[in-house]
Amino acid sequence: MPRSFISVADWSAAELREILDRARELKDLNKRGERPQTLQGRTLAMYFEKPSLRTHVTFEAGMTQLGGHAILLRPEQVGIGSRESPADVARNLSRWVDCILARTFSHALVEELSRAGSIPVINGLTDLLHPCQAMADLQTVAERQDLERAVLAWVGDGNNVVNSLLLAAAVLGLELRIATPRTHRPAERVRRRAEELGRTSGARLAWSEDPAEAVRGADFVYTDVWASMGQEDESEQRRRIFAAYQVNSELMRHAPDAWVLHCLPAHRGEEITDEVLDGPRSIVFDQAENRLHSQKAILERLLRR
Ligand code: CP
Ligand code: NVA
Repeated sequence: MPRSFISVADWSAAELREILDRARELKDLNKRGERPQTLQGRTLAMYFEKPSLRTHVTFEAGMTQLGGHAILLRPEQVGIGSRESPADVARNLSRWVDCILARTFSHALVEELSRAGSIPVINGLTDLLHPCQAMADLQTVAERQDLERAVLAWVGDGNNVVNSLLLAAAVLGLELRIATPRTHRPAERVRRRAEELGRTSGARLAWSEDPAEAVRGADFVYTDVWASMGQEDESEQRRRIFAAYQVNSELMRHAPDAWVLHCLPAHRGEEITDEVLDGPRSIVFDQAENRLHSQKAILERLLRR
């Protein structure tokens, strides 16, 4: 069976580092106008149940730059679960294309596509995880500081983005402090897996409910929306729950030298203020750019012959 990229926890520290090294190399090559045609003639099918700017454009542009091609599939075209079962969709796609990228609500659906098909599946975000985001995040951090020495702080919702960051930190042995309300911690199954992986890697993982405690002395402060895609109905309630978790200049006084991360899109004025997002320590567009380079490295790793 080919390897899929559904969770960073399915990959070893050495493998993740290899992908990050290649991502840096691809970025350097790109800057020099060099685009190795490593995926010539290869096709990626991209299935999106939720909106996307970054993931869609970077995967499609990434395939083009590597000499391949990407096809966008909308749920209403494909009808997974209504017109055809997930397994049959995966079996069909496996006969025509080389790889599937899927952004779905259900994490189990991405796993099922991978199980039923015979080509690699890339998780382009589920309600549980966002592994491609974590790889771009690590590339961005590594551009500023040694990953092993960096102190990362997460403030806000314990969502798919921090779940993957947590697993990545656990695999690679990094330091990550997470401040969320007690009711909105990262998923329990993810926390348990991270703690297990962290025992081997020596990762320093810490949980608190206090944003100031988490960011004090941190090198990177990271946040994301309070209501993720699919949680729009809870937006009002979540604004109340997370009110004390806004990344603003007052919070950043506890970490004046920290770089600011956000996976984007941002809900300006909610989880982060304009002042911080547009401020001199914000590196959110480097982070967005790195989606392109790190995903090209992931595609190469999955599709290499
Ligand atoms: N960060 C991210 O995944 O962005 P999109 O939702 O626009 O793909
Ligand atoms: N947590 C957000 C991330 C968007 C890239 C969401 O799932 O909507």
